Amino acid sequence: MKQLSTGNRLIFVLLLSIFSFPHLLQAQKTSVQNIDRRVEELLVKMTVEEKIGQLNQIASDINTGTDLKKDDLLGQIRAGQVGSVLSHINFENKILIQKTAVKESRLGIPVLFGFDVIHGYKTIFPIPLAQAASWNLGAIEAAEHIAAMEAAADGQNWTFSPMVDVTHDPRWGRIMEGAGEDPWLGSRIAEARVRGFQGADLSADNTLAACAKHFAGYGFIEGGREYNSVDISDQRLHESVLPPFKAAADAGVATFMCAFNTLNGVPTTMSKYLLTDILRDGWGWPGMVVSDWNSIGETLIHGTAIDDADASAKCLSAGCDMDMAGRTYQRGLKTALQQGRVTDQQLDAAVRRVLRLKFMLGLMDDPFRYLNPQRREQMLERPEYRQAARALAAESMVLLKNGGGLLPLDKDSPFKKIALIGPYANSIGHKDYMSFWTLGLGNPAYDSTKVVTPAQALVPALEEMGFEVTYTEVCLDATCTEKDLSVALQAARAADLVIALVGEQGLNCGESRSVSTLELPRSQEKLLQVVARNNKPSVVVLFNSRPLVFPWALENVPAILVAWQPGYETGNALADILTGAVNPSGKLPVTFPRRTGQIPMYYNHLNTGRPQEFLGQMWTSGYLDLENSPAFPFGFGLSYTTFAYSGLQLSKPAVDMDETLEVSVRVTNTGKLAGQEVVQLYVRDLAADISRPVRELKGFEKITLAPGASRTVVFKLTQADLAYRNPEGRFKADPGMFQVFVGGSSADGLTTRFELR
Ligand code: BGC
Repeated sequence: MKQLSTGNRLIFVLLLSIFSFPHLLQAQKTSVQNIDRRVEELLVKMTVEEKIGQLNQIASDINTGTDLKKDDLLGQIRAGQVGSVLSHINFENKILIQKTAVKESRLGIPVLFGFDVIHGYKTIFPIPLAQAASWNLGAIEAAEHIAAMEAAADGQNWTFSPMVDVTHDPRWGRIMEGAGEDPWLGSRIAEARVRGFQGADLSADNTLAACAKHFAGYGFIEGGREYNSVDISDQRLHESVLPPFKAAADAGVATFMCAFNTLNGVPTTMSKYLLTDILRDGWGWPGMVVSDWNSIGETLIHGTAIDDADASAKCLSAGCDMDMAGRTYQRGLKTALQQGRVTDQQLDAAVRRVLRLKFMLGLMDDPFRYLNPQRREQMLERPEYRQAARALAAESMVLLKNGGGLLPLDKDSPFKKIALIGPYANSIGHKDYMSFWTLGLGNPAYDSTKVVTPAQALVPALEEMGFEVTYTEVCLDATCTEKDLSVALQAARAADLVIALVGEQGLNCGESRSVSTLELPRSQEKLLQVVARNNKPSVVVLFNSRPLVFPWALENVPAILVAWQPGYETGNALADILTGAVNPSGKLPVTFPRRTGQIPMYYNHLNTGRPQEFLGQMWTSGYLDLENSPAFPFGFGLSYTTFAYSGLQLSKPAVDMDETLEVSVRVTNTGKLAGQEVVQLYVRDLAADISRPVRELKGFEKITLAPGASRTVVFKLTQADLAYRNPEGRFKADPGMFQVFVGGSSADGLTTRFELR
């Protein structure tokens, strides 16, 4: 037989594989050009009403699954008036809805099912802010992949996640949904989450379309007060707010969501500047934009539209494609078209983006691909998902203090009796270890009895080590009665060591849950003080969704661990950390202030012309009554071992614009246990055209070191890392001196300088 040339052989193998593997044929069928052609074919068949229907997303009753008869959802679907259904949990109803769309509507276009998959779907992971504290991008991506596998098997095909809003304000309840205060870390996490949800193939039956939200500025609402206005400079918008959105766009996120807030006066849902100039024209992002819940309708309340037609015209022409839950487009868009305030081209562009997403998800070829009952059975709540949730919860926990090496609990330690005390020892209903998103909606999909509580895990784990353990649940609902305090004191007296489990209630965080103060509830502080009267050592475990302020514990309690809201595997993860089975390696993704009044407080601030060096230093930037430093800085977190940094070196003292600078440092585990360290690289531009932050994170590596072992970590810096947006709107790096810092937090480390020529 004649030998095939390499090229011919390739074609032969390709053809062979296409004919022998139907999924490749499928892939072929749904290629981009193919999709575009099929979208156009469909578009020409659609009436204006059907087009508007595709832009209409209907909310359903999350408890019962929509009451289909009452809402006549099926009737609307049959009439081609619905493009997407959100927050639907009833699997059988989802099948019925899809059947109605596909078999009974004129054009048979399937619906998108959107859902808030915020920290796991059935298997509940730690809250996103906690996950960010792991600085483990691989684990975060894997967690989202698990969430996607579960959600996709349960019929969802689109998640309203990740929330990539940077914030400097922990009063804002939604800080728990993001990655904290840093745009660079937030960008890396945004990419990881998008990869985790979407995988390499949106049409696979175990991936979801992701949604970068809330575009943009929501994290900077005034006073941290939910839904408040945002008034920020262009500098802040471009440097602190937009980078994680850009990173998500570059990672191929399928959708964006507008924000509720106004940005410098303009509701984001009708902001042409954001949705068209920046997102589409600037970044070239091709995906679909959804409003936030009725945020098109709320333009009337903002005082920026007079009626539904006006709101529809303004939002659609700005670039908002789909109307979430408000039905404003349904009521107003046709009139806006008739009035000539929106063009057919603008309507078609929005519909095209919706249809395109449906093709990309594979729904147009197989509308039931996410609705397979057998697959659902196999894919939900697998034991290995729990393992991943446990590992990530442990890796998220941050050790803030460990006076006298009190932790980990050691079977040879002098104390034998341990008392677990506090509202979160074994929280009734186990509702406090999750968040608003997994509790607040009253969603039966989240079964809080599946949480392993601290008492359930710690009692057997510690008993096995030879300790005697008691647990006392007091001060529930964040209030302590005299009886609670005396019960707690008795329990503490009978023990050699107290582990106090305090913090925030699960429902204190999330949407519409802003607070005016970050202080640990006074009654819980009192509980800590009462327990301390027994003069025995104590460990405080904080369950929190945001940085809390706890001045008394900071001064008086030797060991403090931030556990966040760790999800289903709370107790097991906590036991892993307290017993030393897992060495803590979490680092704070947000600054913990000393007092609420220090807010906004973030590590990458400007220096001011008069930086304060110590409390009381007059004519400097500070307060009369409080020092400027935080309780714990961004990037901070202890381990049961210690790490030493040495030998910071640069590949060159000066680099040209097009050169890469290598920054290397030696990290040594100087303690007795193996551990993980997050080695962080920061830079500062010392003489720029505008004042630059005192430090900016530009790299990190999480490394594992055996006791006594060392490793050299090498970072690379290029011009792009040193560039910033100048007042003319251009990203550029200024020639001149830069300072570089490498260390274990934003407040310490080795430092040196280099020149950029
Ligand atoms: C939130 C969004 C969420 C949507 C759907 C809104 O209230 O702001 O983040 O995705 O509801 O549940």
